[in-house]
Amino acid sequence: MLNESNAAEKPQKIVFSAIQPTGALTLGNYIGAVKNFLALQEEYKCYYAVADLHSVTANPEPALLRKNTLDLFALFLAFGLDPARSTLFVQSHVPFHTALTWVLNCNTAFGEAKRMTQFKDKSQKSPQNVNVGLFDYPVLMAADILLYKADYVPIGKDQNQHLELTRAVAERFNARYGATFTVPEGVNPRCGAKIFSLANPAVKMSKSDDNPSGPVLLLDPPDVIAAKFRRAVTDSETVVRYDPKNKPGVSNLLAIYASLLDIKTSKAEKDFEGADYAALKSRVADVVISVLEPIQKRYRELAADKASVASLMKDGADKASAAAYRTMSKVYKRIGLV
Ligand code: TRP
Repeated sequence: MLNESNAAEKPQKIVFSAIQPTGALTLGNYIGAVKNFLALQEEYKCYYAVADLHSVTANPEPALLRKNTLDLFALFLAFGLDPARSTLFVQSHVPFHTALTWVLNCNTAFGEAKRMTQFKDKSQKSPQNVNVGLFDYPVLMAADILLYKADYVPIGKDQNQHLELTRAVAERFNARYGATFTVPEGVNPRCGAKIFSLANPAVKMSKSDDNPSGPVLLLDPPDVIAAKFRRAVTDSETVVRYDPKNKPGVSNLLAIYASLLDIKTSKAEKDFEGADYAALKSRVADVVISVLEPIQKRYRELAADKASVASLMKDGADKASAAAYRTMSKVYKRIGLV
């Protein structure tokens, strides 16, 4: 895991992460992933990709995939991920991702890939579309990470098993062919906050929630955000206290507030001493709106300036390709390709 003194001694460690363009991002994604991306950008050399090839495993409607990819790239910029410091790009623009996937496939045991619980879950949820790409999804992730020699990979806990596979494959390849890949470490969000549905605090906040009041979408207009918080499920007590087990709804609101303000939940609890639930909901909504409004404004400006976004996308692809090419050439040489 990250360790400040270590980082100071060896500057310019490399970070890689990616988000799939599968539709509207939620406040949960912002707190769980994006905030971490922004923090890491301050210290490390970061590569952040829109993982469009991963999305293809679900065979999305082509026009929708295209729109979601462009939207997510614009959102990366709107968040404040900085193309001057970080390499921001679209995965499919760098063909080495699929090329390395093939080589890694040949160094991944069928049995170890078959153990991936996300594959099992997804297969059960969509039995009509269990394709080979879905099975190979973690190997494509490994290729993403290993191409850039990433030291650290910020990921959600649901991806930890894929990172373990990446490490195993990297170590196996290095043992077979000589030191080639950096063996990466996972970085789970520092605040550790997992954000739950406002409508049902027992489940993770997700855009595919059955209840439209459950997820706060990053592009929801402020009045919609405020209304979702007003409807947030709490409990039948009246005290604002951080107690995820007994008071999941109230604790979720406190966790959102604390994460966005970068404070401890104990401090958040103090901020609401004596407040009732209506006041809690409206102040948390205000904080959320104050964080999202500037992002939404920048996003709208970028959406109106397609040429600049396209040009930044190309620059990112060029920078990423140059780094990926170096790794790929080495890999091909190591395995004996002429
Ligand atoms: N599979 C990841 C997710 O859905 C996204 C992803 C693709 C990724 N490639 C990656 C994350 C490489 C970290 C590193 O969350």
